[in-house]
Amino acid sequence: MAQSTESWGSRVGLILAMAGNAVGLGNFLRFPVQAVQNGGGAFIIPYLVCFLIMGIPLLFIEWSSGRYGGKTGNHSTPYILDTMAKGRVWKYIGVFGIFTNIAVVSYYCYIESWTMSYVYHSLVGTFNGLSQGEVAGFFNTYVTIGESTTGIPYEAVIFYIICLAINTFILSKGLGGIEKVAKIGMPLLILFGAILAIRGLSLGTSGASDVFPDANAWDGINFLWTPQFDSLTNPKVWLAAAGQIFFTLSVGMGTIHCYAAYLKSKDDVALNSVSAGFMNEFVEVVLGSAVVIPIAAGYLGLDWVMKNAGFGMAFQTMPYLFQQWGTVLAALAGLFWFGLLFFAGITSSLAMGTPWMGFMRDEFDWGRNKAAWSFGGLALLMGLPTVFFYNQGVFDEYDYWAGTVSLVVFALLETIVFSWIFGIDKGWREINEGADIKIPNIYKFIIKYITPTLLLIVFLGALFTPLNNDWSGNLHALFTGNGWTLDNSSIINQLAFTGLNQEIAAATDAVTLEKLNDKKFFISFARFMLLGLFLFISSIVYLAFLKRRKEGRATL
Ligand code: ALA
Repeated sequence: MAQSTESWGSRVGLILAMAGNAVGLGNFLRFPVQAVQNGGGAFIIPYLVCFLIMGIPLLFIEWSSGRYGGKTGNHSTPYILDTMAKGRVWKYIGVFGIFTNIAVVSYYCYIESWTMSYVYHSLVGTFNGLSQGEVAGFFNTYVTIGESTTGIPYEAVIFYIICLAINTFILSKGLGGIEKVAKIGMPLLILFGAILAIRGLSLGTSGASDVFPDANAWDGINFLWTPQFDSLTNPKVWLAAAGQIFFTLSVGMGTIHCYAAYLKSKDDVALNSVSAGFMNEFVEVVLGSAVVIPIAAGYLGLDWVMKNAGFGMAFQTMPYLFQQWGTVLAALAGLFWFGLLFFAGITSSLAMGTPWMGFMRDEFDWGRNKAAWSFGGLALLMGLPTVFFYNQGVFDEYDYWAGTVSLVVFALLETIVFSWIFGIDKGWREINEGADIKIPNIYKFIIKYITPTLLLIVFLGALFTPLNNDWSGNLHALFTGNGWTLDNSSIINQLAFTGLNQEIAAATDAVTLEKLNDKKFFISFARFMLLGLFLFISSIVYLAFLKRRKEGRATL
């Protein structure tokens, strides 16, 4: 095994890299949409509670597990978990911590590449004079390659490949490269974000027009920030809040373990993890909610925003909204906004490259270049289908299984390993070793009991989501002997294609039927790719085990 001597250059660099890992497209694109779709102020309380009792404990667990593994030269989750628990099986749980990153980065870089393309188009004036419909149309054409009648999918593919190549190149420079990008990217991102947020907060009703007379930026802010306590009893909102916390903090992914494995053995994890976590929350809750929603509500009205909220909304609207500021300011705002998204994205996607690299370097003595470029190759192989077949559902399928379900599953399993197998007493000592703050003792209890229980509830809730999310009605039906009806959004029905099969059965014309059958084919294909990746990584972990055993280093 190559004993890596790499470690972080400075504490500031480490915190910015970790915060950069967390701060990503999720903060600016996913958070506002989740908040809007889950009732605005109704979402915020569950979200903050999830941050405190799931997010922070998972940060403690992952930072300290990573540092613990790093002490014995292990930098990725399979063998970090292997060092924490006796038994052959644990390292295979760690497969998630490599799998998720490669699967997520493959589509995440696609969005990242849109931001590069949109910087370019903002600067060359592509959006000048376009109507809202035309700006939205530009986005729709951009992502519908593969259906293109002209057969020219080049632009999206080229930007995607350039984006992956930039990531791979920086990764090949090691931790120093990542640290440099974080030190430049994070301050710029906060600066760009603050400028746009000030604009969002000062827009008021000045953007109202004949077409949208009710437009008012304050409606957007009030909608997000007026707490609604009735949501506390709605499991759907809790599930969405928990999902957003996982995604935004990058917990349950394996990236934090890997970054933390490059800490020195006595480095603090308690204060560092909380600092990076709070920095992420500042960017998400303060900046993330002060840009897209208020600006869009300020020009188009809150009703429009609520009807059109979606991941692509920022691409479909912002260039048009910026046009209202005049040509020069529009170009600048486009640069700030899409540049901000690019920096947010790249500091996260770089982190996703490190677990694979760490593993191949630890186990097979690969050099940095080989490890980085093989990662780029794998991501390209996994990612091209999301580019070509974006509209056929491949992108969403990856996001669902790798970007959502996997995070919860891995977080649940690692919490059990940490608290119950490694043992909370040992775990608590690890968290507190070298700590620069005193963590309240209540967290020991939370990590052992509350966090795993909540994770289990979240997982079971997603597995068995009842019809129409009507929990009380379905529980009543269950106890009165009328059974439990699954919603088509439940993991079980998703897996069984239930919703799609119903649509196929109800299709009345040949064209619709063919479209739906195509969709089923592409979704199956996406699952095949994901499963293939998971098995591939599992087999490499097994090969590493054989190698360790031959060298007399296997734990069992
Ligand atoms: N945490 C990263 C984000 O929010 C993945 O985009």
